[in-house]
Amino acid sequence: MRRTVLCLALILGSTSTWLAASDSNGAWQSKVPQKDRVRVNPQALDPQAVEAGAVVFARHCASCHGSDAAGLGKHPSLRSARIHQASDGEIQWLLRNGSLAHGMPAWSGLPEIQRWQIVRYLHSLPQEGNRPR
Ligand code: HEC
Repeated sequence: MRRTVLCLALILGSTSTWLAASDSNGAWQSKVPQKDRVRVNPQALDPQAVEAGAVVFARHCASCHGSDAAGLGKHPSLRSARIHQASDGEIQWLLRNGSLAHGMPAWSGLPEIQRWQIVRYLHSLPQEGNRPR
């Protein structure tokens, strides 16, 4: 009997850790290979890229990250210092691969050019701390 209670406690404990894990701790960043980290954004000089990225963001990302990218519920703000300081290549890598174990889908189905446009859009936003929840 005591054993069963202990097992239940362990299971409940690990479930709540898993549920609380959707706020990003940025662990994904250490997984980005160096060659991806330093990739140059092919949309870097396109004056329309920010606007195009905003359209793709509204369609695919706003439902989790908020229409202003400032975060929604447990989903992280993308106006954070981490995202501002991340290289274009790092963010593009995350979008392509996702962070599936933490609830961030992979966007490898989008044309690569759209992922680079989203990166331009995110880097055009003003930086701010996470919104109080
Ligand atoms: C189903 C909900 C969901 C959708 C849709 C989604 N994301 Fe995420 N996203 C998450 C979660 C959860 C995390 C935290 C992942 C982690 O910590 O590893 C995350 C993390 C991120 C991060 C890293 C944040 C940080 O602080 O390290 C970026 C950048 C990001 N998402 C961009 C996007 C973009 C751009 C889109 C649309 C193409 C998108 N996400 C769509 C759930 C979502």
